[in-house]
Amino acid sequence: MKVLVTGGAGFIGSHLVDRLIAEGHEAIAVDDLSSGSAAHVHPQAAFYRTDIRDSQALSDILTHEKPQVVFHHAAQAGVRYSVANPVHDASVNVIGLLNLLEACQHHRTERFIFASSGGAIYGEQETFPADATHPLQPVSPYGVSKLACEHYLRCFHNVHGLSYAALRYANVYGPRQSTRGESGVIALFADRLLRGEPVHINGDGCQTRDFVYVDDVVEANVLAMQSNVHGAFNVGTGVETSINDIFVHLKGFTRSSVHPEYAPAKAGEQRRSVLDISQIARQLDWRPRTTLMDGLARTVAYFASRTEHG
Ligand SMILES: NC(=O)c1ccc[n+]([C@@H]2O[C@H](COP(=O)([O-])OP(=O)(O)OC[C@H]3O[C@@H](n4cnc5c(N)ncnc54)[C@H](O)[C@@H]3O)[C@@H](O)[C@H]2O)c1
Repeated sequence: MKVLVTGGAGFIGSHLVDRLIAEGHEAIAVDDLSSGSAAHVHPQAAFYRTDIRDSQALSDILTHEKPQVVFHHAAQAGVRYSVANPVHDASVNVIGLLNLLEACQHHRTERFIFASSGGAIYGEQETFPADATHPLQPVSPYGVSKLACEHYLRCFHNVHGLSYAALRYANVYGPRQSTRGESGVIALFADRLLRGEPVHINGDGCQTRDFVYVDDVVEANVLAMQSNVHGAFNVGTGVETSINDIFVHLKGFTRSSVHPEYAPAKAGEQRRSVLDISQIARQLDWRPRTTLMDGLARTVAYFASRTEHG
């Protein structure tokens, strides 16, 4: 099958491209490299350095490549960045999606898989864990833009018959996650602990997240591609872990003696976040396979080898 992955040079998108190529698919990666890295794009993938806000460029790529399936991972993915820059967030996340949807509709793409955010679109949760029927009350512009995308997808499904699944990721972690960005607390802490640098915890560290390993997220994308289910699906673990606990585990794995420094909590971030995954387990037979301890060990090993090689 011919598949196109936007954000294919990014953390999750590049792992997805690797897996699709390993399964014998022909993969095309589209990315403007604003946060991704060309070094992460699989050498067998066709790569287009393109901004998804450029509708003509996207249309040209789809005309030329004619992918049957499109995975949309390119995004402005920073929650805090979106609070400070809501217009830029919407231009990439909302206009970029619409450009892609128009091109897909024109070129009759068969299946569309969207990287949504279970962490951001539910807002402060009322029930724990949140299932897909939980009220949608995003507290950040990023969450609003992801929710707007889901509404557009449903609209394109109803009006144009688009076959899609929106995968609402919890907090994804693993090798290649950026340590510069703000979303990857595990990558950031692991990297700093390995370098012996100070680690800052925002707030009291008792805030919780649902951490899901990147390979499990890739598996959910592959299953979503192979099925014809449509709508929104949570992709997490159902397990709530505090930032303080993440710090303690990583401190153990890295054998660090660093103590955390506590800083004020950040605006636009929820207190607790954990997803109910029974719907995707039922409909796609997907479950996370990687325990937190295994995932943390693999992630630390990746950052340790990177630190060793400068
Ligand atoms: N990492 C998480 O925990 C998480 C959680 C929920 C949802 N998501 C979503 O998953 C997707 C992938 O996230 P990630 O963690 O791999 O982030 P990432 O920043 O590593 O990947 C995003 C990619 O999109 C590219 N990009 C950004 N703006 C672009 C533009 N205008 N045109 C073309 N490419 C552009 C970046 O260069 C980057 O390679 C995003 O849509 C993100 O919102 C991630």
